[in-house]
Formats: sequence, structure tokens, C-alpha cells
Amino acid sequence: MVVTLIAIPLVPIVAVVAAGGIWFASNSARATPPAAGTVEFSRPLAVPPLAPSRVEDGVRVFELSADEAATTFEDGRSTPTLGYNGSYLGPTLVASRGEQVRVHVANRLDRATTVHWHGMHLPAAMDGGPHAPIAPGATWHPGWEVDQPAATLWYHPHLHALTREQVDAGLAGMFLLRDEEEASLSLPRQYGVDDIPVIVQDRSFNADGSFAGSIGMQFDGVLGDTILVNGTVAPYLDVTTERVRLRLLNGSSARMYDFGLADGREFDLIASDGGLLAEPVASTSVPLSPGERAEIVVTVEPGERVALRSNPPDPALHAGSASFDVLELRATASLAPRPEVPAELASLPAADAGDAVAERSFVMSGHNINDRQMDRGRADFTATVDTSEVWTVRNENPLPHSFHVHDTQFRVLSVDGSPPPARLAGLKDTIALEWSRDYRILVRFEDYADPTTPYMYHCHLLWHEDQGMMGQFLVVAPGQRPELKRPEGDSDDHHDH
Ligand code: C2O
Ligand code: CU
Ligand code: CU
Repeated sequence: MVVTLIAIPLVPIVAVVAAGGIWFASNSARATPPAAGTVEFSRPLAVPPLAPSRVEDGVRVFELSADEAATTFEDGRSTPTLGYNGSYLGPTLVASRGEQVRVHVANRLDRATTVHWHGMHLPAAMDGGPHAPIAPGATWHPGWEVDQPAATLWYHPHLHALTREQVDAGLAGMFLLRDEEEASLSLPRQYGVDDIPVIVQDRSFNADGSFAGSIGMQFDGVLGDTILVNGTVAPYLDVTTERVRLRLLNGSSARMYDFGLADGREFDLIASDGGLLAEPVASTSVPLSPGERAEIVVTVEPGERVALRSNPPDPALHAGSASFDVLELRATASLAPRPEVPAELASLPAADAGDAVAERSFVMSGHNINDRQMDRGRADFTATVDTSEVWTVRNENPLPHSFHVHDTQFRVLSVDGSPPPARLAGLKDTIALEWSRDYRILVRFEDYADPTTPYMYHCHLLWHEDQGMMGQFLVVAPGQRPELKRPEGDSDDHHDH
């Protein structure tokens, strides 16, 4: 049994009648960060360290350990947190296309966890979803070959029904992929100098310093009133180069952002979830739902200060209307030169639905997908390796949802019948779903047949995911019989009422 009706009785409640029941939501109950222009940026932005690695028998090997810790975010109070190789978040892993990688993941928590490589194309058994729990004290050793374009990916736990709790406690990090195509372009790529990870999260704190887990919790999940970037509250970044590349990750569990610069200046959007766009898109706004990434290149003038801001998301997302500041860029008095962003970036094949072998439709409503909830013993569909499918995805609620698919980077074919905006024309693994807009996407299952271990697709609002707004699919070889097995110790725990 799960609680699916959330009402916060402090403020007027909006009742929304959705397929399958009545949902309560309240925009005015949203915890909201301080208004734009009011934050005093007082702490240098933390940059997650690069994860050390060694090469053993041609395999690049990383070590991660999930630890219990405490972190001081604001002076004078300590917050119980979880972190990888540290007290909050984790190191940035970097690997190149064509490399074999292996990660030793040690679970030093007193509870099970998993590590999922969000955006990575890899065998289902290495994917780190809810079928791959790591027991307390145990170590997991996934390995795979990096075989996809240079991109900003990330990693985080994906434990059945407990993902939000563990991610919000601090378990998340970036996984950057490099390749020759990206390396040949004159783009900023000096980590921590002109190429900066920007992991944006929102949190609220209790008086004792602990994270508030349920205050502000309503239909979306937990929204916080304090913005953290790489775990830094009120951060500024000293920019020492004429251009700086920001790798934006919405690492929040529920909040939708629409990033821009406070003075409305244009910047170059160069990459989406799965890698570089075909060409830079001169932009003033980049909306990101939880789990989505974008890379932008910002040009600054010597000595100036300008804030990265979040403006109100598309009203059709029903995700609030606040503007707030995220990170101040402080350009030094003299700036090292950096060339303009090249006019052409990646060679992206045209998204061609011509050879798709199946059409599927996914309706997101309440905490269900196609009126069903997650059941680890059920494959919701089976796809065949080396085929493409066309999916239609639709949010039936005037409330925020998103859609994320494991294993693959998809292409958006159309939004309500029109070509996608340029920012969605590249490789994507997660999209925001505005109310009653049809997204048609082209999904390819390149390889890695496995008739027993599924991949996931789900809403990436983590509380929704935890409530069962997730499904599973198998990828099999032609003619292979799907044989998904319910994980050991799992009861028939789907959340049907
Ligand atoms: Cu970022 Cu299935 O998750
Ligand atoms: Cu994922
Ligand atoms: Cu959702």
C-alpha cells in the first residue's frame, strides 16, 4: 500500500481530477528558493574531484565507496549525508569511447544500495537498477565497454522504492565520456578550469541541520528552499577564461529549472543528455527536468559578475513560477583567451523513423504508466536488439512528469506533431513532459541481448519513480524467449490498489 494522496492543509488546495483518481496538489505549498537578485554569493563553488583510475589488463578501473558521513553546508551546522568517496556527492569519472571500464563499488552503508549509470549504453546486468542491490558491506564490480559519443552522464542509486531518499542524502556524481570527435573541436575542456560540472539540487534544512525530508512534499515530491551547486550553498565561480563550459545537471529529485543568465545574454548550447548537438544553438534559456543535462558555453567580459539563474519553467509543466539565482560567475580582471565555439559540432544522423519495427504508447498519469505500477516480476514489453521503435509519450496530468529510458539515447521526432525545438534535436535519455503534449521519440536498441535482466523506463521525479511510476523492458536476440525472473526475496509488490 502506498500513499498516493498528498494534501498540505496550510494553503488552498487544488484538486485535480486525473484518470484513475483525484490528485491533490498545491502550487502555493511549494518551497521556493530566495527570489532572484537576493542571494549573497559567499562560497567558492566546490568542484568534485576527478576519480582516480588505473589501467589493469587494458581495463580502466575505478573505485567508488558509498559512505555515511556528515557535511557542513552552512556555517555552524552539520548535516548527516551520504557520499561516494567523500561526504556528499561523488568524484567525477572520466572515460573515453572504446575503453573497457570497471568500477568497484563498495557499499559501506548500513542498508542496501545500487549504482545506476544514467545515460550509459551498457548490458542490463551492469545497469545498476533495482535488480542489482549491493548488500551492506558488499562490493559490486560492473564492467563494460564505453561505446557512445562524448557526453555528460551521471551515476546515482536506483534502489527499489528508495531512490529519492538515497539521492537526496547525497549519492550522485558525474560520469564524463570523451571521444575523438569532441576532442578535435576547439571547446573548453580543462576540468575545473574552463569546463565545470554544475550539479544543481534543492534542499531544505531542519533547525538541527538535517535535511528536511518531507517538508514541502506534495505531488512532485520534495522541493527545497535552498539551492546547492556541487553541494555548495550560495556559490560563486571565479572564471579565468573568456569562455567557460558549464555541464549542467539537474540533480534534484523533483524541481524543474529553466536556466539562463541574469542579464538575459545569449550563450551557446552545445550538448544535450547524450552528447554534442550537430551545431551550437544560441540560447537564452535551457529548461532541465530532474536527471537531464545540458552543456553550455558562456562568454564573459573581464571583471564582470553575472548569475546563472532559473526562470519559471513552461507553464504547461505546472512546476511553479519562481525565479531564483543558482551560481554567480565572477570573471577575473584578465581572462585567458578561448576561441569561439565551432559552427559545427557532432555529426548526428538524421532521426529516421522509417525502419522502426514497433510503435508503443506511454501515458503518464498519477503515479502510473499506462495505468500500471512497477512490478519487478513483470516485463512490460520486450524489444529486439538492433531494432528501432517509435514511442509516443504523454503526460495526462496538469502536474510535472518526465520520461527517462535506460540503455539508450533516443531522438525526439516531434512534439505535438511539430519538429522538436533545436535543444531537443540531439541525443536524449530524459525529457520533461508538459501536460497533454505528445512527444514522439525514436528509440534504438543497439545490442546487449539479455532475456532475464530488464532495463527501466520511468518518471525521473524520484518520488514518483519510488511510488511505482516505472516499468521494465527486456532486450532479446531475434527469436530469443524473454525469461524475466522476479528477484529473490521480492514479493508481488506492485502497487495496484
Ligand atoms: Cu537516473 Cu532510472 O535513472
Ligand atoms: Cu537512467
Ligand atoms: Cu512523474
